[in-house]
Amino acid sequence: MEPPSIAELVRPNEVTFAAHDRDVLASFWHPVALASEVADKPLSRRLLDVRLVVFRGEDGICVARDLCAHRGASLSRGWMDGCTLVCAYHGFRYSGTGACTGVPAQDASIPISQKLRLRTFPAVVRHGLVWTCLRPPARAPVPEWPDLALTGRQTIEVPVSLWRAAAPRQVENFNDVAHLSWVHTGTFGNRDAPQIHEYDVIERPDVLEFRLSYPHVDRDTFLKPGGVVTRMTYVYTLSPPFATKLGVLAPDGRILDIYDIASPETARQTRVYMLMSRNYDLGDPAAPAIDYQLFVNKEDMPVVEDQYPEDLPLDLREEVHISADRMSIAYRKRLVALGLSGHWVA
Ligand code: FES
Ligand SMILES: [Fe+2]
Repeated sequence: MEPPSIAELVRPNEVTFAAHDRDVLASFWHPVALASEVADKPLSRRLLDVRLVVFRGEDGICVARDLCAHRGASLSRGWMDGCTLVCAYHGFRYSGTGACTGVPAQDASIPISQKLRLRTFPAVVRHGLVWTCLRPPARAPVPEWPDLALTGRQTIEVPVSLWRAAAPRQVENFNDVAHLSWVHTGTFGNRDAPQIHEYDVIERPDVLEFRLSYPHVDRDTFLKPGGVVTRMTYVYTLSPPFATKLGVLAPDGRILDIYDIASPETARQTRVYMLMSRNYDLGDPAAPAIDYQLFVNKEDMPVVEDQYPEDLPLDLREEVHISADRMSIAYRKRLVALGLSGHWVA
């Protein structure tokens, strides 16, 4: 039987998704925080129009609707007392299971109503991220990225960024190869070699994959003019709907994997989590690599935030495609196959 719609969890004035597409996306795992962010304060988050609170309970990280069952206050305005979440309005106390364990305004001998419960969602920590599924059971697992656990690798967390763009637009951009020579000329893009050679997309049940050879301009630091051209192999593995691993393989054996996971706060705003893993410069500080990647992202962001229509057109007739767009075409088709209508905004 189909799980119930999550439309009832959204405040009517905060609806940005069409209910059907929201329900499809709610059946997948999405990250809502870095595990390291969940410390001594409850976090306020939004996923698929739903306001969430993320906190550390007695048995681990808890993701719940950001709504106190008493008088509708936002629990993320409250605080943690050890592993107990305290509502800021009347001090009701909630455990990590979602049960209300204390009502300060009434005598402790009076039983607490069973209706005073948080609406909780499954939460798992994988790859240093907290993932949740608003409409379980999830249709696909959290992406398996075993390379992140390899010895001889350094994992780097890039600061989370907020994009004023639809998640599928951000994801398609990350997997788009014809823009590299145009948008990324401040970093690795090669304006002298814009042609993209034919590639095939391998379609598996949970991923879309392709590889490409690209004459990457190897600038030591960003904005340094010129630079050595190195033919890199880029290996893209997209786990629909919104998670991609890009392996950048140098001929000398250096590997830089970049993970881009787009978490749709609303139909028009996306929180992008990014991890990097490298097998070189292991003892070096991560800051230069982070600054470089942030600069790459900054090159993309204004273009993506300004695309029209804001929603990724899933009907292939709505935009014009070239052979370099094979991955984009496969991605759009896969989103349709998942059941998305592409009419994201109600
Ligand atoms: S609204 Fe949360 S304790 Fe009253
Ligand atoms: Fe880009």
